[in-house]
Amino acid sequence: MYTQAMDLAPKEEQRHVRSLEEVELMRRFDAKIDAGDYVEPKDWMPEHYRKTLVRQISQHAHSEVVGMLPEGNWVTRAPTLKRKTILLAKIQDEAGHGLYLYSAAETLGTSRDEMQAALHSGKAKYSSIFNYPTLTWADMGVIGWLVDGAAIMNQVPLTRCSYAPYARAMVRICREESFHQRQGFDALNVMMREGTPEQRAMVQDATNRWWWPSLMMFGPPDAESVHGTQNMRWGIKRISNDDLRQKFIDATAEQAKVLGVTLPDPELKWNEARGHHDFGPIDWAEFWRVVGGDGPCNKERLAARVKAYDDGAWVRDAALAYARKQATRQEAA
Ligand SMILES: [Fe+2]
Ligand SMILES: [Fe+2]
Repeated sequence: MYTQAMDLAPKEEQRHVRSLEEVELMRRFDAKIDAGDYVEPKDWMPEHYRKTLVRQISQHAHSEVVGMLPEGNWVTRAPTLKRKTILLAKIQDEAGHGLYLYSAAETLGTSRDEMQAALHSGKAKYSSIFNYPTLTWADMGVIGWLVDGAAIMNQVPLTRCSYAPYARAMVRICREESFHQRQGFDALNVMMREGTPEQRAMVQDATNRWWWPSLMMFGPPDAESVHGTQNMRWGIKRISNDDLRQKFIDATAEQAKVLGVTLPDPELKWNEARGHHDFGPIDWAEFWRVVGGDGPCNKERLAARVKAYDDGAWVRDAALAYARKQATRQEAA
């Protein structure tokens, strides 16, 4: 999921003076992008394009993996066997998304160990949405509905990203995200239609808590987006943050009516002239606070991820030992 953090990068490296050969390579690269062709790992690419993609794809991979943590808390507390199997399948999907994305990023010449070390040291970002707590079972439904829903809006355009391995990974990921969104909506729908007044109140409360952070998943407003223009130029990003956010709000406002929940924005209303919903101001101070590390669960999430990685060391060691043994046997045969 969850590509919000991708616009947030350290200051770009200084532009260096180019050789004639580089100018020609650059010209051909730009022409390829303009023609709508895909870039493959062995093709020449500008260093800045490579770095941008490593940052974006690895942040995306980290988000998939960290995103398993808030949901993992609820596997043992799922209300029925059916909901438990669905939740387990979803969490497994997210692990798979992390795997495809780390693999895509590795084709750009950065190892998975390096990327994971950056995550575990706190240097790399992941989507801030996962720094919010999951307080009730309704949060599992709302994460599917709103968080996976926002992820789909963000990610469908990435299936046409100019870097082919990323685009290919996104095709499968988007199919699975759409299942995630629907299972969340379905869980909430059951609670709203067949549930008790307390259960309906849980759905409304979870919606109130997740609505604004979901809108922040599209990243800062276009006017403040650090890399927006360059990423659009290179076909890494196809639709701007604000346009995606608007699309999400328009779709979700209708779904909220079907569910029978109220989105917590008194200014939300259809604007006939614009052909879109108007909405109230987003608290960007909160967004930057959470991105900066001061969200409700930042420390807890990172600590849980590092612990999971450390606890899994024996599995990685065993797999490597097994692979070595197999290789030795094959050589001997
Ligand atoms: Fe995912
Ligand atoms: Fe998902």
